[in-house]
Amino acid sequence: MRPDPLGYLANELQTLRDQSLYRPLRVLDGAQGARASVDHRSVVNLSSNNYLGLTTHPVLLERAQQALRDFGVGTGSVRTIAGTMEIHMALERRLAAFKQTEAAVVFQSGFTANAGTVSSILTRDDAIISDELNHASIIDGARLSRATIKVFPHRDAGAARRILESLPKTQRRLLITDGVFSMDGDLGALPELCALADEFGCIMMVDDAHASGVFGRDGRGTVDHFNLHGRVDVQVGTLSKAIGALGGYVAGSRALIEFLHHRARPFLFSTSHPPSVAATCLAALDVLEGEPGLIARLWDNARFFKAGLQALGFNTGVSESPITPVIVGEAATAMALSDGLFARGVFAQGIGAPTVPPGKARVRTIVTATHTRDDLQYALDMFAAVGAALGIR
Ligand SMILES: Cc1ncc(COP(=O)(O)O)c(C=O)c1O
Repeated sequence: MRPDPLGYLANELQTLRDQSLYRPLRVLDGAQGARASVDHRSVVNLSSNNYLGLTTHPVLLERAQQALRDFGVGTGSVRTIAGTMEIHMALERRLAAFKQTEAAVVFQSGFTANAGTVSSILTRDDAIISDELNHASIIDGARLSRATIKVFPHRDAGAARRILESLPKTQRRLLITDGVFSMDGDLGALPELCALADEFGCIMMVDDAHASGVFGRDGRGTVDHFNLHGRVDVQVGTLSKAIGALGGYVAGSRALIEFLHHRARPFLFSTSHPPSVAATCLAALDVLEGEPGLIARLWDNARFFKAGLQALGFNTGVSESPITPVIVGEAATAMALSDGLFARGVFAQGIGAPTVPPGKARVRTIVTATHTRDDLQYALDMFAAVGAALGIR
């Protein structure tokens, strides 16, 4: 028998086990929700990005089912050949209106929206100036573009300025930040970066994956939250988190969107969303605009839970959003906290390197609009119990 050429992978996995970074997949036995059955255990679920509970909202379910009956289960083609249906166009018109831009284009995911956009609007002659904690999809897009990558310390607009001062003014430069950082729950330095983009003539881009549906009027995101309309050239949002379905989008000028139609590789070379997904997202936008109480409940829950964790003495970092980390330091401690919580009916994932820097391992919590106060109080009680047993404060 020939030796297994992939044998080294088993060694890599063993290294992960040795570092407490090996995580078997948790499996949901039913629907995603504030309470869920995970690995056959009923849990309060603090691990999803289902901020508004839309994954099972009756309006979304009904509209998805109607679209399945009307248009079938798939499109059978990429967008640029035969895979564009009127419902895709309707969703993009609606997203553009929502984000107050000329146009929008939907990708298969937020990941491909970021990676496909950054890699196509920049070339090897250009530069990207990027917050050090920006999402992996931005980093991959930057690498694919072959542009010069300059990273500034997290939220440090002063450092971004110094980088800009060191680059030739004639070079095309893209300034980019996440709107909300997914591991810390803090906001990007968007107003300060927009001021730099104005001063230095840069392209300004924000990834609002965790802000859309959460920040701004009816969940329009951080551009709306900070009232920066017209000053951010490229706005990315996701349809996979607060919107409850799947996909990502770019909102901006018509020229930007038409350019992406012609050059963004995930748009050109991967099949379009099933029409039911587009219908679901359209329904979600109706719900966002028609049920403002949902976002208010999300924020009430977020404030209650964050205050509860802080009152227990946990290090919750610098969060300003419904994402609240409990930072414990070593990966083994984070995994022990996560496992102890799970054994007591609370699902909050432990996260270590490379997703967060070494020594900053954490259990990340995300509350949703559909958690009850009893769910959240129960989770706080379990954090208190498991945290005390592990000596974490
Ligand atoms: C900041 C950020 N951007 C982009 C993405 C990718 O979005 P999607 O899950 O729709 O691919 C994520 C999600 O993991 C994210 O946290």
